[in-house]
Amino acid sequence: MNILQTKGYDELSQKAAEFIISKVRQNPEIKLGLATGGTPQGLYDKLIHDHKQNFTSYQKVTTFNLDEYVGLEKDHPNSYHFFMKKTLFDHIDIEPSNTYIPNGEVEDLDAECLRYEKNIEELGGIDLQILGIGSNGHIGFNEPGTSFQSMTHIVELTQSTREANARFFNKPEDVPTQAITMGIKSIMNAKEIVLLVSGESKKEAIKQLLSEKVTEQFPASILNTHPNVTVIVDEEALPKLE
Ligand code: F6R
Repeated sequence: MNILQTKGYDELSQKAAEFIISKVRQNPEIKLGLATGGTPQGLYDKLIHDHKQNFTSYQKVTTFNLDEYVGLEKDHPNSYHFFMKKTLFDHIDIEPSNTYIPNGEVEDLDAECLRYEKNIEELGGIDLQILGIGSNGHIGFNEPGTSFQSMTHIVELTQSTREANARFFNKPEDVPTQAITMGIKSIMNAKEIVLLVSGESKKEAIKQLLSEKVTEQFPASILNTHPNVTVIVDEEALPKLE
């Protein structure tokens, strides 16, 4: 794992943006795996800024999001469909038909999981997956105990994840109880991974990740076995090694 330490969140977002932009410029047809949540918002702001300033084009880029809540309509302000439109897609030249997000509104959720996985496969797999991490080590919505062999599947969200995400909802009880998420194996199938880790609340998580102990009780630990991972982490999460 390559570790890139940055001073603060702004520098983390800048480094992540430079990383992604150079990959998009090298391969304009890149398949990007995207995350939602608080951490990548600065990165998405910087991608938008660069698109306007330097005209980096996303016209031929395809994206796959990690996850989506079950039961929220696509235009619900807390759905990840809505989040992606507002924080990135509406502001760059990406083709909406090239942006894939699991559909949490369908009746047959199992069929949706298979369909999503097949989509990824048919388009040649993910070249570069962007990840955040939960303070319990989750990646996507893969909570501790999830099989390392898991593909896209339905999850019951844990109380701690629902509480962590309640900040985006009007009332904590509005947080859905289920989600569709790419599995650990689907994430590990990406050719390259960049993990963003920011803020004090992630201190324990990054420590555990860097301990290199690989266990299903800490889902992100599997990243230690992937051949091409870059971790971009700020000083609040990982104080600078002197
Ligand atoms: C989001 C996702 C989650 C988040 C994680 C960290 O698509 O898959 O695993 O990356 O919960 O969230 P933030 O960045 O809000 O701390």
